[in-house]
Amino acid sequence: MATIAPQTPVKGGSSAGESAWFEAGRDPLSPNRNLSPITTRSDALGRLEVGGCVLSDLARTYGTPLYVLDEASLRASCRAYREALAAHYPGPSLAIYASKANSSVAITALVASEGLGLDAVSAGELLTALEGGMPPERIVLHGNNKSSEELELAVRRGVTVVLDNWNDIELLGALAPALAPALGLPVRALLRFTPGIECHTHEYIRTGHLDSKFGFDPDELEAVLRHLAGCDWLRLDGLHAHIGSQIFELEPHRDLAGVMADALALARGLGHPCTDLNVGGGLGIRYVASDDPPSIQEWVAVVAGAVADACRQRQLALPRLLCEPGRSLVASAGVTLYTVGSRKPIPGLRTYVSVDGGMSDNPRPITYQSQYTAVLADRPLEPATETVTVAGKHCESGDVLLREIGLPATTTGDVLAVFSTGAYNASMSSNYNRIPRPAAVLVDGGSAELVQRREQPEDLLRYDVLPARLRSLP
Ligand code: LLP
Repeated sequence: MATIAPQTPVKGGSSAGESAWFEAGRDPLSPNRNLSPITTRSDALGRLEVGGCVLSDLARTYGTPLYVLDEASLRASCRAYREALAAHYPGPSLAIYASKANSSVAITALVASEGLGLDAVSAGELLTALEGGMPPERIVLHGNNKSSEELELAVRRGVTVVLDNWNDIELLGALAPALAPALGLPVRALLRFTPGIECHTHEYIRTGHLDSKFGFDPDELEAVLRHLAGCDWLRLDGLHAHIGSQIFELEPHRDLAGVMADALALARGLGHPCTDLNVGGGLGIRYVASDDPPSIQEWVAVVAGAVADACRQRQLALPRLLCEPGRSLVASAGVTLYTVGSRKPIPGLRTYVSVDGGMSDNPRPITYQSQYTAVLADRPLEPATETVTVAGKHCESGDVLLREIGLPATTTGDVLAVFSTGAYNASMSSNYNRIPRPAAVLVDGGSAELVQRREQPEDLLRYDVLPARLRSLP
């Protein structure tokens, strides 16, 4: 097996003073391989620019913490998937954006305009996708515990449902026969199963091994397929599997093709049309200099080649190839800006530099021990002169965003730019300590547009209810 995504701390994780994150060697065609968005530059004054916007100006205008999303990087990633699929797969194909990585109406609209589909896992993500203009026929609804309401929404809107377990089938079976005739279609569905493939990534984001809460066990597959053959309210359009996330290896994806092609042969043999094969997502990205993920083109070439070969070997008509990238589409387009506040040097131990966000806007370091790369927005190329630990502002000792990174001497008010934060940051954000969520701006060609308003402390009170009997307490 090849390389794994490092989850252990790397000393001097910042590449300040190195140029690897900056321009040298940047791959404009596969943003997931870069440490910063593809439009990252320094202006005449040496300040960091993304999408033609000076980051410290954005921080002044919109406040911090601020999520910045580079439209060119996002579009380049979409294009890379689309074009690589067309180049390497001999049949029809569709890349589907796994919107759990970063779900918003604006991102949906962008991804839809690039011709991609979308994967939603809740009514919230589904409504966001529909509101963003994603055509329902390009949406799939996932989830290991979908509610009846979520399933009904999907069926009513003509979204494909990914059957994950018997409960899905029972709930749909109760709903669909009543709804489907009025809607004029059988419910379109994919069937998700656990392929039994191990890969090297953090255990929380591994899904393809047998001990997973997602999908049918492979031993059950035949029984489920036989059962579905008798459900005339449903059309089984295909099969789905997903092996995990932030994966640098290609072999597991190659192996997956064989496992899925066997399942496809079984399903078609039982009379299911199964014209789609959805191989999930999982391609990793570069968070720190030592990360070296395959490019989108390499990943697609391996997956497409393996699926085509596996089908040929089994004499199966080529299915439409679907894949579901999340992180590799949006992570590298994102930069988070923070303002530096307090500093606590502990002689002989470490120096903490605190910023105005932390685990509520980026829970990945505390959850997965994830590494990031950061620079000062106005002095990105200045050599590092000290090693500091960048802490968040939450009441939690583990609220550390970057452990032991090299930075030039920082002072209060400096803007810190943390790269590769476009995936699983905003979407996993919280209001821990009643800290409002950041705003998000989309940058392109020198202009910035607000795509998510900053929450205000008052917003956080909207759902609190004070029972009358508590109002009069002394
Ligand atoms: N399809 C399915 C069914 C998935 O469960 C996922 C991710 C994807 C596609 C997209 O995978 P990607 O291309 O992004 O690797 N919160 C974790 C990641 C959890 C991934 C969950 N499923 C993190 O921050 O690393």
